[in-house]
Amino acid sequence: MSFGATLNQANALVIGASQGIGLGFVRQLLQDGRIAKVTGTYRQRETAQALFDLQTKHPDRLAVLPLDVTQEAEIERAIASLQQQCDRLHLVIYCVGLLHSDSMQPEKSLRQLNTDQLLQYFQVNSIGAALLAKHLLPLLKHDQPSVYGAISAKVGSIGDNGLGGWYGYRASKAALNMLMKTAAIEYSRKSPKTIMTLLHPGTTDTRLSAPFQRNVPPEKLFSVERTVSQLMAVIENLGPNDSGSFFSWDGSRLPW
Ligand SMILES: NC(=O)c1ccc[n+]([C@@H]2O[C@H](COP(=O)([O-])OP(=O)(O)OC[C@H]3O[C@@H](n4cnc5c(N)ncnc54)[C@H](OP(=O)(O)O)[C@@H]3O)[C@@H](O)[C@H]2O)c1
Repeated sequence: MSFGATLNQANALVIGASQGIGLGFVRQLLQDGRIAKVTGTYRQRETAQALFDLQTKHPDRLAVLPLDVTQEAEIERAIASLQQQCDRLHLVIYCVGLLHSDSMQPEKSLRQLNTDQLLQYFQVNSIGAALLAKHLLPLLKHDQPSVYGAISAKVGSIGDNGLGGWYGYRASKAALNMLMKTAAIEYSRKSPKTIMTLLHPGTTDTRLSAPFQRNVPPEKLFSVERTVSQLMAVIENLGPNDSGSFFSWDGSRLPW
């Protein structure tokens, strides 16, 4: 049976819900009558106003929690607080991601590589998702199907890398894929009803892609709403044998 067919009175957790695709997931899940409760996490208050506004509108269905995924103690605190509100999760989406910031740009050349920037990519894009897999096991392990999906990126595919550039981002997404694939194998023993998956959203109109949209044809630049609908369709189609796979937004499988 597909995961979507089992969704009923489900609890969802969206990590990185302050803006972009994560905020879009929260909005869409709140409109979905099969979802009982949504929890959205944010890193900093300054960029999370839209999430707080949603919480004011849906005080009984949406909870918000602070969480910087680079701090394992914060992950532990957030999950302990979540466990006081619910005893099981059915859908977890890791929407956290970093490509550029005021102080960093993706490296175009080996000349631009530096240790601190590389470490930052790995901390945010890869390690956070794995630490969540570590700490979420008790909430995902129950007698109903559950999904833990992490938003990856096609540029993290080693087999598909024909262009080069973006060393840290690409490598951190490849590491995310390997960490989640490995966690999927461990989960298959410890929590056999959990499906772990990696999802490529397609180029989506968010802060992350904004500086790089110039050469993207309009039909290939998705709105957040479109991306979330497409990724939800992929998630709903997942079956037990799909755990540990890397899917594109249209449901096709991507090479590692
Ligand atoms: N947009 C695209 O075209 C595209 C394409 C391929 C893959 N992706 C992937 O899709 C995912 C979502 O990206 P997006 O486009 O929605 O980007 P976005 O709008 O920039 O959102 C990124 C989210 O990650 C959060 N975040 C960053 N560092 C964090 C940390 N240390 N701890 C907790 N949260 C943190 C941000 O919180 P703050 O508000 O606090 O910064 C924000 O909520 C990412 O994994 C990205 O790599 C996006």
